[in-house]
Amino acid sequence: MSKTSSFIVDLSDSYATHNLGYKLGQYCLSGTILLLFGNLGSGKTTLVQGLGVGLGIFEPISSPTFTLINEYLEGRIPLYHVDLYRLEVDQVDALELEEFYCDGGEALPGVLAIEWAERMRERPQSAITLKLEHASTGGRRAMLTAHGDVQVTLLEKVTSDGLLVDEV
Ligand SMILES: Nc1ncnc2c1ncn2[C@@H]1O[C@H](COP(=O)(O)OP(=O)(O)OP(=O)(O)O)[C@@H](O)[C@H]1O
Ligand SMILES: [Mg+2]
Repeated sequence: MSKTSSFIVDLSDSYATHNLGYKLGQYCLSGTILLLFGNLGSGKTTLVQGLGVGLGIFEPISSPTFTLINEYLEGRIPLYHVDLYRLEVDQVDALELEEFYCDGGEALPGVLAIEWAERMRERPQSAITLKLEHASTGGRRAMLTAHGDVQVTLLEKVTSDGLLVDEV
């Protein structure tokens, strides 16, 4: 079984959500898959906006709810931002996202950030999962889990970079 590690981060406002994304963006390697879970309005797009800035993307990042996939190629490595909200599970399978964007497919390998990962039947073995929940205080709580050695190392770097986390 591959290595995993989990952390909880309290995000008191949208700046904190953005900042968590920013830190992930600074350390992400090409081939990183970020699976984002969480209810409507839990902060998934806000996090990807920070991720983009951390990758060196200055083009504004907007929600791909209607476009399905937005591609940003100007940063350190490409960012592919996907929103599966409007799709059925069978349609998601047919997309073969991991093969296309991370696994030597036609696209230049980059970071694949997927909102509404709940819609995926088969999830990649090696990924970072990020579950966002509304907190009673009005902020959000994030549960981050790294699956696989490379992702565990990546999250260690992110969490040792001034982020206040609780190890689970
Ligand atoms: N930690 C936080 N505390 C309070 N508000 C936040 C926090 N993070 C993000 N928000 C706010 O929540 C709202 C919804 O954020 P966002 O659009 O990123 O959610 P989402 O999960 O992508 O939604 P959807 O499910 O519609 O795609 C925005 O107004 C954003 O500024
Ligand atoms: Mg969104």
